[in-house]
Amino acid sequence: MAVANGNIRSQAIKHKLMNTGNNNDLVDSFGRKHESLRVSVTDRCNIRCFYCMPLENVTFLPRSQVLSFEEISRVVDVAIGLGIKKIRLTGGEPLVRKDLPRLIEILATKSGVEDLALTTNGILLADQAQALRDAGLRRINVSLDTLKEETFRKISRRDGLATILAGIAAARNAGFKEIRINAIAIKDVNENEIVTLAQFCREHDLHLRFIEFMPLDADKKWDLEQVVTGAAVRNKISNELCNLIAETSADPSQPAKDYRYSDGRQSVGFINTLSEPFCGSCNRLRLTAEGQFRNCLFGTQDWDARAILRGNGSDAELVALLQDCVANKKAGHGIDDPSFIRPNKSMYQIGG
Ligand code: 5AD
Ligand code: SF4
Repeated sequence: MAVANGNIRSQAIKHKLMNTGNNNDLVDSFGRKHESLRVSVTDRCNIRCFYCMPLENVTFLPRSQVLSFEEISRVVDVAIGLGIKKIRLTGGEPLVRKDLPRLIEILATKSGVEDLALTTNGILLADQAQALRDAGLRRINVSLDTLKEETFRKISRRDGLATILAGIAAARNAGFKEIRINAIAIKDVNENEIVTLAQFCREHDLHLRFIEFMPLDADKKWDLEQVVTGAAVRNKISNELCNLIAETSADPSQPAKDYRYSDGRQSVGFINTLSEPFCGSCNRLRLTAEGQFRNCLFGTQDWDARAILRGNGSDAELVALLQDCVANKKAGHGIDDPSFIRPNKSMYQIGG
């Protein structure tokens, strides 16, 4: 009996310790406090990267099923009340969403949003960079895997490399200081272009980040054999371009491991989702374009915020939904586990 009581006591103490600070904080059963929300504003895209979208017969959500800016704003307010501080807008391609600067303005003026960022493919950036900047956006990530038109076409199944490069230049001219480039290195596709890309980013003062290819492609053709690990990319850059020195991260929840070039000119980051999972310090939640919360990129369950938003539901119901989503978060993505099940949705439907 004494032992049983002791167990209960220690469990209660453990639970209390995990729920440090505000009782409303989004702390999961592994003690991870969630402060970052990635909001997908559309599942549509103007290109068709093979690691994300199908080439043909894509069915997009009807507009009526996509959250309005006002609905997103309400969800963000509730999330801020629960300790969310960082918002990243994603898609699909967020810049194809009509009037996006209006949403930026709504979010940028919220006092609880400490960090607002956007991930784009850059195709529409030349047109929109100034409006985004004027609306209050300060940080952008542009996806760029290659500098060769031929490779770009192979990956995205569209033209547009020159437009993206012009978009990056336009973002710079519009006053964006911190521009990051996201790249995926894939065997037999762009593996031999890694150093050229790294060199280009150094020359243009862009922070480059390599993300390992994850099994989130709509065509379900992902194969471990195609993955070029972050370590392999890092070795290549170290050997062929410039030595890299690990930086100590100020933010442990940051998935990227950053390395500074030994000559001091720029740095390069690695998001090694597969080879070095960082699930233990994950602090992210996601809201899909159709208003579903997800607690992991590889999660298979949705928490339906839209039903509450459109069913006259209360903020308290949204709070309970978000808390339940967090409470059910698993320890890790489990990709290397034999029982791993791919999510029923691909990258463009979840939000990158
Ligand atoms: N694996 C890794 N990263 C991906 N992205 C899209 N699909 C995948 C995938 N299967 C990245 C894009 C973009 C961001 C939104 O997500 O490169 O930078
Ligand atoms: Fe579009 Fe981004 Fe998916 Fe490429 S990765 S198809 S740019 S949403």
